[in-house]
Amino acid sequence: MNGKRILLIIGGGIAAYKALELIRRLRDRGASVRCVLTEGGAQFVTPLSVAALSEQPVYTDLFSLKDETEMGHIQLSREADLLLVCPATADLIAKMAVGLAGDLASTVLLATDKPVAIVPAMNVRMWQHPATRRNVACLRADGVAVMEPTEGPMACGEYGPGRLPDVPDIVNWVAAQLEDAPRPLAGHKILVTAGPTHEPIDPVRYIANRSSGKQGYAVAEALAKLGAQVTLVSGPTSLPTPAGVTRVDVETAREMAAACQSALPVDAAVCVAAVADWRVEESPQKIKKDASGTPALTFIENPDILAALSRPGENRPRLVVGFAAETENVIQHAKAKIARKGCDWIVANDVSPASGVAGGVMGGDRNAVHIITPTQVESWPEAAKADVATLLAERIAHALAQPR
Ligand code: C5P
Repeated sequence: MNGKRILLIIGGGIAAYKALELIRRLRDRGASVRCVLTEGGAQFVTPLSVAALSEQPVYTDLFSLKDETEMGHIQLSREADLLLVCPATADLIAKMAVGLAGDLASTVLLATDKPVAIVPAMNVRMWQHPATRRNVACLRADGVAVMEPTEGPMACGEYGPGRLPDVPDIVNWVAAQLEDAPRPLAGHKILVTAGPTHEPIDPVRYIANRSSGKQGYAVAEALAKLGAQVTLVSGPTSLPTPAGVTRVDVETAREMAAACQSALPVDAAVCVAAVADWRVEESPQKIKKDASGTPALTFIENPDILAALSRPGENRPRLVVGFAAETENVIQHAKAKIARKGCDWIVANDVSPASGVAGGVMGGDRNAVHIITPTQVESWPEAAKADVATLLAERIAHALAQPR
């Protein structure tokens, strides 16, 4: 942490007293620490103690003329390598999640262009409340690093998760946040497709599939974390856009195909979407239940996006990766798919109920995949979709680093 500048925002919770120790330990490790105290924070620790320990002025008031002339709030938010909120109270987390800026701490957090890390601490019920769960998930999706609170007896007499972790553990976690993450995909453009497609039958009905988009979104996020410029072409999902990713929403396979072509040229394309193989000859009016009996649906083949992207030509990405959801003979079918579609790799997963993956693959949070290239098959152990995505993104970075 030598020479790193931390802007520590101290929220108003009983754990604020530990922020004093944190300032000392961060400084012991070579960081400089400048502090913002919320109004609540100043009820638990005094500006004088914070100023004495940080050996810097302490900032408390958004409308303080003195502070603004010495150091504007925008400058305060930018002159740091990391904004660290500790303790992060339920109130401050909620303000951050909705982007409120009514006091100095929340304004600085909204105005910054620097990484933000929070160490929540609160009563167990507050930590487990759906509103806090929602707000924390929202912050994570915005790219904020969140340290999990620990479990144990609380100052209020209750027991459970919500305690501020021990100061040495916070210091190590902060050090990890300050490490410059490797960005091997910086300068590379990557297209990712994700989610299902919806194929209309008539103006009110459609055909879809069980894809949640979770694996594709995780792949987009992992690639962006490695520095790639990611365009995520997404079918209808309920997922938030991963931090740093450009998302293009589509409904049908044909819209997805057009959006993918518009995203070209790219260095790599990763087709995770569960694209409908067929669309229906669409009725312009709602099909009525009448005496003419059961309607017949006529299916028309959809464009194959993966095959189109894989076709040799000026715009073919250097690396095209397909996904294959299979319910039997997973590896055999995936190998045939590489040949048929012309892509470079297939990530094959067994989506049958017999796969044994906890929670099921379609819609679940875990996956067990085989990475198949024309020359080799590698089976990865079952893991969280996010971990599968991280490994795959590292593989892609390695492949794009090879000379052409
Ligand atoms: O054989 P199947 O079409 O199921 O192969 C799945 C792979 O092909 C996935 O990568 C999927 O995103 C892609 N695909 C596509 N366009 C289609 C159908 C599938 O890009 N119309």
